[in-house]
Amino acid sequence: MSERLLEKIERLKQQRNAVILAHNYQPDRIQDIADFCGDSLGLSIKAAQTDAEVIVFCGVLFMAETAVILSPEKTVLLPDKLAGCPMADMITAEQLAKLKARHPDALVVCYVNSSAEVKAQSDYCCTSANAVEVINSLPKERRIIFVPDQYLGQFVVERTGRDFVLWPGYCPTHAVITEDDIRDKKAKYPDAIVMAHPECTEPVKKLSDKLLSTGQMLAFAEKSSSQQFIIATETGIIHTLKKQNPEAEFIAAAEKAICPNMKRITLEKIVWSLEDMQYKITVPEEIRIKAKKAIDKMVETLPAK
Ligand code: 13P
Ligand code: SF4
Repeated sequence: MSERLLEKIERLKQQRNAVILAHNYQPDRIQDIADFCGDSLGLSIKAAQTDAEVIVFCGVLFMAETAVILSPEKTVLLPDKLAGCPMADMITAEQLAKLKARHPDALVVCYVNSSAEVKAQSDYCCTSANAVEVINSLPKERRIIFVPDQYLGQFVVERTGRDFVLWPGYCPTHAVITEDDIRDKKAKYPDAIVMAHPECTEPVKKLSDKLLSTGQMLAFAEKSSSQQFIIATETGIIHTLKKQNPEAEFIAAAEKAICPNMKRITLEKIVWSLEDMQYKITVPEEIRIKAKKAIDKMVETLPAK
């Protein structure tokens, strides 16, 4: 790793009173230099709590928007303006408005992987770490519109037995992990525990032992006595899993499960981001206030585990 780049980042961080937050799918070098690395829930909580004036968000747009929604007084920078989330883009505010008009009595729960406009039209927000708890906290008789991830939605349907209207969105990175990938890896490593993300397709989840958010995978591996794990999610998390559990072996269920958007962030772009204060993420105040209500219910009532 370039010493000069690291020194520059350190110096700029102090000058700007900045903190670097990174998602568990970020490139290894970014995870190593971040002040906090975590899953979507952990990152939301950190963004709300930090005293720094500037947040450099090493992740994708919806994560940086969530930081703006929770901490409007801070400057939130996304080092690459094209780092978006294709799943979040699979539903627009207009599409959600039409869906709500078709089911006027339903409550709307949006996965945090959604735009600020979609959050503003939702009653509750959730992450993969707390989706089941959020749904269980809602009145039993109410139908629930869940957007945009159909696979996280199906996972919650199975665990709560509630009446859902699911939107057919999905994560293209998790969708490349197939049933055959899991079968092949299980045949090669029969003693390994299979940890899969709820964004995986149903056949993959059925073949897995544990369905966990990325933060929950890290916590589970740390306390497990097993020494071998097959990981069915974006491969970036394997870096931190290995760092935290040097004795254990972590095998990617599919080496091709790489999110190109997460990998757009580089050390150089972090330097440019802090030097030029780019790219500033903003959310119109009217949208922010509405979106915050949905996120607040998640952050305040369901702290990270
Ligand atoms: P978590 O880290 O919250 O499990 O989310 C996974 C993801 O796809 C983020 O884009
Ligand atoms: Fe979006 Fe999937 Fe990439 Fe996460 S891994 S940012 S859900 S495309």
